[in-house]
Amino acid sequence: TAGDGIDLAIFGAMGDLARRKLFPALYHLDREGLLPADTRLLGLARRELDAAAFREEIEQALARQLRAEEQEREAMARFLARLDYRRLDFALPEGYAQIADWHRGSSRPLVVYLSVAARLYGDICRHLEAAGCLDERARVVVEKPIGHDLASSAAINDAIGAVFPESRIYRIDHYLGKETVQNLIALRFANPLFGTQWNQNHISHVEITVAEQVGIEGRWGYFDEAGQLRDMVQNHLLQLVCLIAMDPPANLDADAIRDEKVKVLRALRPFTEERLGRDVVRGQYITGTVHGQAVPGYLEEEGANPGSHTETFVAIRTGVENWRWAGVPFYLRTGKRMPEKLSQIVIHFRQQPHYIFDPDQRDLAANKLVIRLQPEEGIMLEVLTKDSGLDKGMRLRRGPLQLDFNSAFPKTRIPDAYERLLLEVMKGRQYLFVRRDEVEHAWRWCDSLVAAWSERAEPPRRYPAGSWGPVASIAMITQDGRSWYEDY
Ligand code: BG6
Repeated sequence: TAGDGIDLAIFGAMGDLARRKLFPALYHLDREGLLPADTRLLGLARRELDAAAFREEIEQALARQLRAEEQEREAMARFLARLDYRRLDFALPEGYAQIADWHRGSSRPLVVYLSVAARLYGDICRHLEAAGCLDERARVVVEKPIGHDLASSAAINDAIGAVFPESRIYRIDHYLGKETVQNLIALRFANPLFGTQWNQNHISHVEITVAEQVGIEGRWGYFDEAGQLRDMVQNHLLQLVCLIAMDPPANLDADAIRDEKVKVLRALRPFTEERLGRDVVRGQYITGTVHGQAVPGYLEEEGANPGSHTETFVAIRTGVENWRWAGVPFYLRTGKRMPEKLSQIVIHFRQQPHYIFDPDQRDLAANKLVIRLQPEEGIMLEVLTKDSGLDKGMRLRRGPLQLDFNSAFPKTRIPDAYERLLLEVMKGRQYLFVRRDEVEHAWRWCDSLVAAWSERAEPPRRYPAGSWGPVASIAMITQDGRSWYEDY
């Protein structure tokens, strides 16, 4: 609808994230009629380009990202016509008047999207303010990771907070925009069946796997400073833990939800040097094969420092120390160069208190709820039934009660996380964004882990590319008499 639009200025408009995710997401919103007619987009980057050349670049990026049937000539023309471009050196105050000029006289709120390194966030916010770009409706969207530990993240948050109030800061964790992640909220809080069972009386343990097939994708410099813990666990995996473990919020307001998430983060068991050996496995991939293709090891990737101890895999056993989750281990693992791209959460329910079937099937006898984020979104409840056949007696059989979104709801295209998140920013709704205290509690927990492992100064364990990580990560869970869930 006309009149609800925004003026969206994207810093880092020529970057990888912008080309692969942001512009395609905006295009999809436009094509679906969700981008108000008066919305305008401004690309900002260091390259010397005019608006026409910028539109061409974006058109090419879209052609690479979109499927053929998604590329509609009319929608494309309409979308490209919204784009403008200015060259800007983000660190210097001089060029910011161009943004004020672009926005001047507009009745729409200005939204600035910072798809740049977090160390620039503070400067950018200050320069925007000094150039008179901001009014009391302006919003800022920032990407993770915010800092590399609690202290650096607090400094960055202070710098943003000196210019924008918390109510207009949108910290992205794109996992929160994924369809199935949102479904966790629906599943838990709309279904009495699960709502009543969701605690340590009925759940024995929780597993979260976020496996990626890709390696470092030309980002060695960034990645080597971060590592898998900071790149994936501090944000995406902990957000999943929060949504699984939080108490029911009083309503769906942003702060009601975020208050509950913060309580989970505060209750996470911190690491100690003594627990580290049992509860954490760090890995780094060496040469191997992924889908039949030989791939280089981490230390042989382009730009690599051959002495690096940075982890590309981490497995963690932790717990949420509160009434609901006392004694329930949460096993997390995430890595690069795994055999496949697979993100899933498995909730393992407890066995019946009294068991009457074949003793050798005892291990089978518990329900599992598998929540699959990718590659295909879906939810599956593993139930036990009687094996059919006259000679089977009361043999049990595991089977799925399954909901596969693509086949259950074949007409609906599942939107990319960034589409949903950008739409929420436009509507000014914050419930899918991360509040400052969430980021900081997550860092506090990660810092306790980093502190414990730097005391040990052990190199990461090697695992061949294309495997499920170091053997020790399998031992970590089998020691507890359990295993990582593999069927679906
Ligand atoms: C990003 C990380 O936040 O998430 C990347 O920086 C990672 O290293 C990516 O590859 C994974 O996202 P997705 O949506 O593909 O699971």
